[in-house]
This record gives sequence, structure tokens and C-alpha cells, in this order.
Amino acid sequence: MAEYFKEPSRTFNEYLLIPGYSSSECRVENVSLKTPIVKYKKGEKPALTMNIPLVSAVMQAVSDDRMAVALAKEGGISFIYGSQSIEDQAKMIAKAKSFKAGFVPSDANIRPDQTLQDILDLKERTGHSTTAVTEDGTSEGKMVGLVTSRDYRISRLDRATKVSEFMTPFDKLITAKEGITLHDANDVLWDNKLNALPIVDDEQRFKYFVFRKDYEQHKKNVNELLDDGKQYIVGAGINTRDYEERVPALLEAGADIICMDSSEGYSEWQGRTLKWIRENYGDTVKCGAGNVVDRDGFMYLAKAGADFVKIGIGGGSICITREQKGIGRGQASAVQDVAKARDDYFKETGVYIPICSDGGIVYDYHMTLALAMGADFLMLGRYFARFDESPSAKLMVNGNYVKEYWGEGSNRARNWQRYDLGGDKKLSFEEGVDSYVPYAGSLSTNVRQSLQKVKSTMCNCGCTSIKELQQNSKMTLVSATSIVEGGAHDVIKKDVSSNSSR
Ligand code: IMP
Repeated sequence: MAEYFKEPSRTFNEYLLIPGYSSSECRVENVSLKTPIVKYKKGEKPALTMNIPLVSAVMQAVSDDRMAVALAKEGGISFIYGSQSIEDQAKMIAKAKSFKAGFVPSDANIRPDQTLQDILDLKERTGHSTTAVTEDGTSEGKMVGLVTSRDYRISRLDRATKVSEFMTPFDKLITAKEGITLHDANDVLWDNKLNALPIVDDEQRFKYFVFRKDYEQHKKNVNELLDDGKQYIVGAGINTRDYEERVPALLEAGADIICMDSSEGYSEWQGRTLKWIRENYGDTVKCGAGNVVDRDGFMYLAKAGADFVKIGIGGGSICITREQKGIGRGQASAVQDVAKARDDYFKETGVYIPICSDGGIVYDYHMTLALAMGADFLMLGRYFARFDESPSAKLMVNGNYVKEYWGEGSNRARNWQRYDLGGDKKLSFEEGVDSYVPYAGSLSTNVRQSLQKVKSTMCNCGCTSIKELQQNSKMTLVSATSIVEGGAHDVIKKDVSSNSSR
């Protein structure tokens, strides 16, 4: 006979945290959000720890090299999407790994024979007012000058004027050689009252800018997640089909951690992939598995050798899997069940396997709930898609700025490897939609604000670490009427765009 779960399938919206005793030590500045991302043995330290419990989804609309750098600066990890060719994914990883904090490569340079109009067009397109002039106009060409907005007055200068006539020529510039440390570059900026310092190689080829404002900003990134060589930690998604070619290429490009990306991971395919990784790399390559929604799924992947296990089927904002196939589970129930399995597995074996709640985070407080229910970290798609750093287009729709956000199972992404269980190698029907999400600005501002709320709630619960929150929090189910009570009610609101997150 079929097995029936006793409890209904619950979502984060159905829970609230009950405050615990907050001592005077429970202050936001004392809260640590450090969390393990890969399995470790009792008494040992995990090989990789994040400074914040957030990773970005393995999706075309979310995680590319730019997102990877932005999130690592804040202390989390991006899993660069795998629904692209192996070469393209490896290039994105290499690009994110080659990023040197504070050293900005140019995305657009100009030739000396181009015009003021070209400079203005470039500024409009890139938003940058400092442009390197290189012999051939390429981003690493031989540097011959620099143009900043102080070099021309639009009202006085004919737009056909050649760049060479108003640029500051190379011999009048203060530059530095590749290899200079960020600290020393900053001294040059201050000693010479500069805003931007061009860095060139031995052949005078342009390499980077160091900006005074970036250095100040950089010093504020206290959580950045760096490897031993001071490069940002970067993750990558893989599938259970072409891993024998993809995994070596991603590792070669510098990926620090990989994750199988599948809508349903309790499968022989994931077991085979993990086996291949262990046979070829032992424990040196860290690989997450999933997604699962119950104890059985977790235990299978734990025994198969997963370094972390991802939870969630059907709860993603762009996901229509539950409607299409009738599989899945409310995200809160799934996290609770898998967290219990993770703890039991730890008791039995002495091996702690971190779990990740993937999808369905709508409000910031859902983050705290997921952690309190036992998640070690969270994967988010919609949340990150809204930021400047996501790869998708920013558009104006009905007078509002939005960004595009589409599911990996939508016709647009056609990521059949994520959905196909040994079938016909094509996406037979959609499991995701193509959508817009409200544009929200920079990742840094938003992540800091969200995590400030998480920390504040943790203090209310008397906890200063994620472990304490998992062990000590108290939660209650809410009734439909108490949800109404929880929002502003029985008043005439003045401003619809108020602070309320609902
Ligand atoms: P969100 O944070 O609620 O937007 O959910 C993001 C998560 O949804 C991802 O990390 C995936 O696990 C999942 N996902 C991505 N694309 C699809 C899709 O097309 N259908 C179903 N789930 C998806």
C-alpha cells in the first residue's frame, strides 16, 4: 500500500519564530553567519566555510562570472550555470577566478583616431567616465592615453574632435606596473591626488584601473570569501550526463566546488556521478547533490558520497513542476524532514553533511526560518535575479524597472539535462516559466540589508550563531487569521511602498 505522510506539506509562510531570552550579548554585531558548505567529521573543521549562508542558483538568469564575484565579495558562493557549453562555462569560471579585488579590467577602450562623439556613446553604453585609449582600441592594447570627463567640455568642443587631441597622453600620465599590490596602488592614488590609476604591463599594454572609490569600498568587504591565493571562491553546476568531460574542464578553469543541478536527485544518475568523482578525485573535489525532499532521498545521497545535499522540489518562484507532474513538497516540511535525517546521520556516522534549502524564499524572514529549521545555507534564484549583477536584461515595463528571470525548465533555457531521467535528451514539456522580477539595485546593499534582518531576528531568539538558531529556536504554525494580524491592519496606509516586506 502507498505510504502517506501524516503531516500536510508546509511552506515557510505558515511559520513564525517565537522569541527566546536575549542576553545583553545578543547584539547584531556579535552574530556570526559563518556556515559549513561541505561535509566534515566530528571534531574536524570543514574544508570550506562560507561567511554568509547564501549561494546563488545554478541558472542562466542568475549565476555568471559577474554574480560570482559580487557574491563572493559578500561572503557567499555562486554556482555558475551549467546549461551552456563546457567551454563557455569554463571561461566564466576562469574570468571570475582571475578577478583581482580592486583591479578593474576594462570592458571598453577607445582608439586615438576616434571622436568625442564616440566617447559620449561609450559613456552612455557603459556608464563609465574614465576610458583608456589604446592603439587598437582593444581592452588590452598598447596604452597611449586616458580620457576622463575633466578632459573635455561638451559645450565647447566639436563632437568630431579626435580623441588624440584632448586625451591626456601616456607620457603625462601617472601609471603603475602590473604586479603592484592594491595597497601600494592606493598610496600612488593618494600621493598624486588621482581618482584612477592605470596599470600597464612591461610592453605598456593596458591591464586594469585601480579606482580610489573602489579601494575604500574594498576595505568595507570584511566578509569576502577568498581562496589561499586571494582569489574569489567560485562554484559551478554540473549535470549527470557529460560530467566526464565537464568536471575536468571546470576544475582546470579553477572551480572550487561543484554541484549537481537536477530537479530531482534521488536517482541512480546522481549515484553514478558521485562514484565517478570519488574514483577519479577522491575527496579532493567537493560536490553537492540533490534535490531531495525527504529522509530517504537524503540518506541515499549521503551514502553515495555527497558533500552537501540540496533540498527543494516545486517551490521555486518560476517552477511549475508540481502543476505539471504532481511531485514535490512544501519547502518547510522538506527542510525539517531532511534536517532530522542529517542529524541522525551525524549521530550514527560522526559525519556532518550540510544541507541547503533551495528555492521558495520570498521574504527575508524566510531565510531565518529556513536556517532555524535546520538548513546550513540557502540557494536563491529570484532574490539574486533582481540585482544589477545578474546576467539578465534590465527593462522598463509599465513604468517600472524589472529584470528578466526564467526557469531552467522553461523553453527559453531548455536545460533538458536538469529534468531528463535517462529519456530522450530533450525538454518534452516545460517545468518552468519565463518572467520578470522587480529590479532592486546592487547586490551588496540588498544582501547586507537582508542579513541585517536575519541577524536581528536571531538576537530576538537569543542566538548568535546559526548552530544555536538550529538547536534553540522555537517555532509555531500560524492560522490564517494570525497572518492578517501580522501585517498592518485596520488602518488606512499612507504609502503603499512602505517598509513592509509583504
Ligand atoms: P527561487 O529562489 O524561488 O526563484 O528558486 C530558485 C530555484 O528554483 C533554483 O535554485 C532551482 O532549484 C529551481 N528552478 C530553477 N529553474 C526551474 C524551473 O524551470 N522549474 C523548476 N524549478 C526551477
